[in-house]
Amino acid sequence: MSVSQLHQRLSETGQCHLLQFWNDLQEEEQLALCQELQAMEFKELNLFFQRAMEDFNRSASQEKVDARMEAVPREVLGSITRDRDRLQEWQKEGFLQISQNKVAVVLLAGGQGTRLGVTYPKGMYDVGLPSHKTLFQIQAERILKLEHLAEAQHGKKCTIPWYIMTSGRTMESTEQFFLKHKYFDLKKENVFFFQQGMLPAMSFEGKILLEEKGKVAMAPDGNGGLYRALGSQQVLKDMERRGIEYIHVYCVDNILVRVADPVFMGFCVQKGVDCGVKVVEKTNPTEPVGVVCKVDGVYQVVEYSEITLATAQKRTADGRLMFNAGNIANHFFTLAFLRDIVNIYEPRLQHHVAQKKIPFVDTQGRLIKPDKPNGIKMEKFVFDIFQFAKKFAVYETLREEEFSPLKNADSQNGKDNPTTARHALMSLHHCWVLNAGGHFIDENGTRIPAIPLLKDANDLPVQCEISPLVSYAGEGLEMYVQEKEFHTPLIIDENGVQELMKNGL
Ligand code: UD1
Repeated sequence: MSVSQLHQRLSETGQCHLLQFWNDLQEEEQLALCQELQAMEFKELNLFFQRAMEDFNRSASQEKVDARMEAVPREVLGSITRDRDRLQEWQKEGFLQISQNKVAVVLLAGGQGTRLGVTYPKGMYDVGLPSHKTLFQIQAERILKLEHLAEAQHGKKCTIPWYIMTSGRTMESTEQFFLKHKYFDLKKENVFFFQQGMLPAMSFEGKILLEEKGKVAMAPDGNGGLYRALGSQQVLKDMERRGIEYIHVYCVDNILVRVADPVFMGFCVQKGVDCGVKVVEKTNPTEPVGVVCKVDGVYQVVEYSEITLATAQKRTADGRLMFNAGNIANHFFTLAFLRDIVNIYEPRLQHHVAQKKIPFVDTQGRLIKPDKPNGIKMEKFVFDIFQFAKKFAVYETLREEEFSPLKNADSQNGKDNPTTARHALMSLHHCWVLNAGGHFIDENGTRIPAIPLLKDANDLPVQCEISPLVSYAGEGLEMYVQEKEFHTPLIIDENGVQELMKNGL
């Protein structure tokens, strides 16, 4: 396509300002811009913008969603505390499916980690554990361990393929990182990287923004970009080829995530649902998690920004929050359901509007860094498809066992940062050692109480880290710790038990 044809296309769709600096560009910059613009469907983009803004303005002018919300009914809810007698049965089912190679995991790792303030993918972050493992490594080792556990139970080798969604911003560095670390001992052919789509950022008037004179401001299309990418990047095809039936989708930032959790998978399989979600009880009305609920009779997640404080604070007779099913971004889908989503429903999903401060080049060619929102990014959300489920279930688990997300930098505030993530993992592993009959002692040989008195957030928890290669969820530790006493920091990994101070490490 020639430049004049491109200009024509842009004029017809109201975007010809994108070529306004054409004459200022070097030849290769012109080429790059041409390629970028030729790949864009401007009519479709304008339609996305129009529909997203209509929806956004409609919700802004309506009353909040509050009046139409209903809590999750008890009959679709399974709970780690209230259904203790069923857990083993669910876990057994999960392991059976894993052993038959029917379970896959999908990692959503296309985000930009803006709040954490790093320029590399969040999965590469080291929160400062004694082992200095990154989030990617921890997750890879949990997959390996699960394969071994399933194999030990069923006497045959099995694979949990890992599909990693990246974006234009994270693809290359993510792949390089895995290559450098030899896929953390997973087989290369079982780790599949794919890219979600990117969309241009737009002004409130629907004009595409330039981040440089010859470069459009692009952003990933939200974690719901998964569904388009599953089709366009041949992921579903690969799953079909392998005979996958059940899929666990999760977010990269939760250090405690139980990847392909056999209890959750088994629960959903036994309930016969096509879509399931794992939640923790939301106890603080202002906690920034979405809540799973029904709106107008249909399941969805209402994000924390979408409800009023009064609704978030509502309590039931037993004193709990009425809307307490806190979404921890762990989802179960059957392959059949995902196939319908990709082939039928995905185009019907509406983009959400995120108003952002987007650096842009103004008409004079100056780079402006706005101090208030000047435009929008359009995103789909991974849970937008709950509405299409024929049968839906919710599984409630314990926050201290399964949820500690890494969202912010340590410097920003005391929540969801590297320190809280590190402490959550070590506190959990401390409990695992105690449950398996081990004890910790201080430098005087006195036993550290089972519940250490942490007076404030700066107090250190017991320094204890157990490799996922040794234990997936606290099982199998007796042989290492029963009736033994340990100094901290303690690491238990494939090399055995290491007391770092004692060993002078
Ligand atoms: C998300 C959930 C929220 C939940 C919270 C729990 C969504 C839309 N919201 O919120 O309901 O309570 O986690 O921690 O899921 N990502 C992509 N591509 C993108 C954008 C994001 O893959 O274009 C990935 C990120 O890499 C991350 C995950 O999606 O793994 C969540 O993204 P983030 O923006 O951190 O979501 P939250 O707002 O924290």
